[in-house]
Amino acid sequence: MPDKEYDKILIIDFGSQVTKLIARSIRELNVYCEIVTIRKFNKILKNKLKFKGIILSGGPDSVTKHKYFPNVNKSTFQHNIPILGICYGHQLISYLFGGKIKKAKKREFGRTFLHQLNKSDLTNGFFQNKKNVVWMSHSDSVIKIPKGFKAIARSENSSNAILENKKNNIFTCQFHPEVYHTKNGKIILKNFVKVICKCRSNWNNKNKIRQISSYIKTHVGKHKVLCALSGGVDSSVLAFLLNKIIKKNLICVYIDTGFMRMGETREIYNIFKKRFKNNFYYLNKKKIFINALKGVIDPEKKRKIIGKTFINIFEKFTKERKNIRFLAQGTLYPDLIESQSYSGSKTSIIKSHHNVGGLPKKMKLKLVEPFKEMFKDEVRILGKQLGIDKQILLRHPFPGPGLAIRIPGEINEKKIKILQYADSILIKELKKRNIYDKIWQAFTVLIPIKTVGVMGDERTYDYICGIRAVTSVDGMTADYYKFNHKDLSEISTKIVNETNGINRVVYDVTSKPPGTIEWE
Ligand code: XMP
Repeated sequence: MPDKEYDKILIIDFGSQVTKLIARSIRELNVYCEIVTIRKFNKILKNKLKFKGIILSGGPDSVTKHKYFPNVNKSTFQHNIPILGICYGHQLISYLFGGKIKKAKKREFGRTFLHQLNKSDLTNGFFQNKKNVVWMSHSDSVIKIPKGFKAIARSENSSNAILENKKNNIFTCQFHPEVYHTKNGKIILKNFVKVICKCRSNWNNKNKIRQISSYIKTHVGKHKVLCALSGGVDSSVLAFLLNKIIKKNLICVYIDTGFMRMGETREIYNIFKKRFKNNFYYLNKKKIFINALKGVIDPEKKRKIIGKTFINIFEKFTKERKNIRFLAQGTLYPDLIESQSYSGSKTSIIKSHHNVGGLPKKMKLKLVEPFKEMFKDEVRILGKQLGIDKQILLRHPFPGPGLAIRIPGEINEKKIKILQYADSILIKELKKRNIYDKIWQAFTVLIPIKTVGVMGDERTYDYICGIRAVTSVDGMTADYYKFNHKDLSEISTKIVNETNGINRVVYDVTSKPPGTIEWE
């Protein structure tokens, strides 16, 4: 908790997937902010604690549900403290001030164009040519503006996409200014925090490494820590960081699930055995994982089984050794937010990331997750400060459950082999064409549907390969990568020609939202 002198913004979390991004943008302005539940906010209000502005986040609820919807105390609006409502916050404020909210006939998810209607302090510098790309994710719309409010902007399906009540210092927007894919979204948050709330930039979040070091030292004491190493960016940075802090007490364990990409296990073994020597353990558990997933079709079940299998193996490993009390994981904020409710507010569970929602309820090992409030790009910066090789830091993200969640439906060794092959072609081609680093994450999906094709005058009846390639900064929102057609068609030809078992390629052009990056 910082000193009293910091100007503070409170963010009331109504359970949006992207609430933390609001905090992150404000943090980047060197202004202190806190994400709070409604209950905590009411306490703060009651105790007359000082803050300079309030943001009401988005969330999965609807004010059109008459029985229950999350709400704020009416006194929230009686202190003349500037307020910004986002998405659900926009609808809630409109509703509380007498506006009308209705389920929209045409929902808006992902990219939407916003047109300027009036000028506002909130949107100063935001619009270019009176039109701007924003990211929406809503079903309800404000169809009647409350008294005292003015429409500042509209989109095709939301005539009241930004509202302002200048007298009471209240601003609301239907879209999400906090997500990367809203162009100039940071300008909206900056205008609110710096111009409207008049916050000073007198806080900073430097020395992350020092903060984590002191957390680890006090948290684990003299016990040994098992670091679950997948070879991906997050667990690798974590392993290097722990090595710096508790070198003698660190044990890195890499489990080969059999769901890794082609050649990946050898690559990881070579890097980490060299670096961590006898503190690195490689466990081949392919059989256990594939058997555990026999007959399993449901993606959530797959994720939970994988999470539990990882923990069983780690616990067995620790039983055979002395003094291992902690399990360190490179869990990131998006893993948490998609798997469970983060701050007590209701958040829809999107998918159980293997390292969070996929974990069994009872575990003997205690978790150490120093990155759980961070995003991947922040972890990459930390990795750079630690001097970690680009080869590790710039790898595309790869989920813990691996290829098992890139084959919808039941998996088997044959399908995994086909997918590994197709995936290796895609990645090799992206690197060869110098586009790997322009893409945040690219991979192939084995679509378990067979279609007819013709090769060398012969009929084929094989699986479909989906290509997924997205641009993103934090994995919370994403857009599909705009390949040039020549690259895409050459890569797809190569995949079909060289992969036994695939005779057709499709390209996924869905953004997040409404899609997610992975297919399961
Ligand atoms: P989605 O599919 O939720 O993915 O849009 C966002 C990012 O998270 C990765 N992901 C995971 N990472 N364990 C992980 O370590 C998981 O269970 C998991 N599920 C998704 C995904 O690859 C993407 O980068």
